[in-house]
Amino acid sequence: MARYLVTGGCGFIGGHLTHALVRAGHRVIAFDDLSSGREDNLPPEADLERGCVTDGTHLASLAGQCNGIVHLAAIASVEAAAANPRRAEAVNLGGARNAVAAAEAEKIPLVYASSAAVYGDAGSRPIAETADCTPHSVYGQHKLKGESTVLTLGPRATIIRPFNVYGPRQHPNSPYSGVIARFISACLAGETITINGEGLQSRDFIYVSDIVRLFVAALSREPAAPFTMNGCTGQAISILSLARAVADTCGTGLDLRHGPARAADILHSCGDPQRAFDLLGFRAETRLGDGLAETVGWQRPVVQ
Ligand code: UD1
Repeated sequence: MARYLVTGGCGFIGGHLTHALVRAGHRVIAFDDLSSGREDNLPPEADLERGCVTDGTHLASLAGQCNGIVHLAAIASVEAAAANPRRAEAVNLGGARNAVAAAEAEKIPLVYASSAAVYGDAGSRPIAETADCTPHSVYGQHKLKGESTVLTLGPRATIIRPFNVYGPRQHPNSPYSGVIARFISACLAGETITINGEGLQSRDFIYVSDIVRLFVAALSREPAAPFTMNGCTGQAISILSLARAVADTCGTGLDLRHGPARAADILHSCGDPQRAFDLLGFRAETRLGDGLAETVGWQRPVVQ
């Protein structure tokens, strides 16, 4: 049994990860300022510590009680980061620096949630970790700078670049929510789906329990070398096709309108999953149709 510090532990991914770690018999300190996370995302066995990752002293004092850190806390939206870049820099880059300092002081491993946004527009073919990174967005730029800091930890550093994560407990009610949560919410409420631009942009959607398995595997690995790996399925779908799939899963008709394209939106984003398989034996297992059915099942009572 180990004790882990999960920053952003009350968030969408952090909550699922904390549940998985507790189920595996570990103890978890969830460090969260509840700015977007929710206490009810945590299992009762986890310890909630309220605070922000911009407070390096607080973070370091918690790390001192733990065997490893998973750093998920962030303003985890490309659009939200663009709307408030100074705050995003303080939280996303400053928080990463504080997590690195804490891991360095305690000589413990750090698993850092970077983002596929570091690649910028990768074209329609699956992109490998060796590709050049030219992020379009402020969010991607901060995540990339965070990666450089994390790599200073050497073998104890693991960087995961999640692609588009979706699933139950991703709340739909913020304008910055992920596209799947928003589309499901609109369909269930009988509202019109808004597609930003033509809808030909595509994304590699990975189900939350799959990405959580990758984080758990990364946390348990032997620290022989620093790792950077995609968290993806290797398959992408256009946003237009996604809208149809969501409407089908909800059992509603498809009512959509096209709005303006989003500034700095990536056109295509699809990850190459080979390295995560080679290094950790990880493969995403949940098919999009099954993941959508689970997500709609969770969201239906929330929306109605
Ligand atoms: C997402 C993640 C980000 C992650 C990145 C990895 C969210 C909220 N953000 O950003 O944390 O690091 O992937 O690449 O999950 N769209 C519409 N209509 C809507 C909402 C969105 O057409 O109502 C479009 C967007 O313009 C975009 C696509 O759907 O083309 C996906 O948008 P979004 O879910 O916000 O995710 P990303 O920007 O890809």
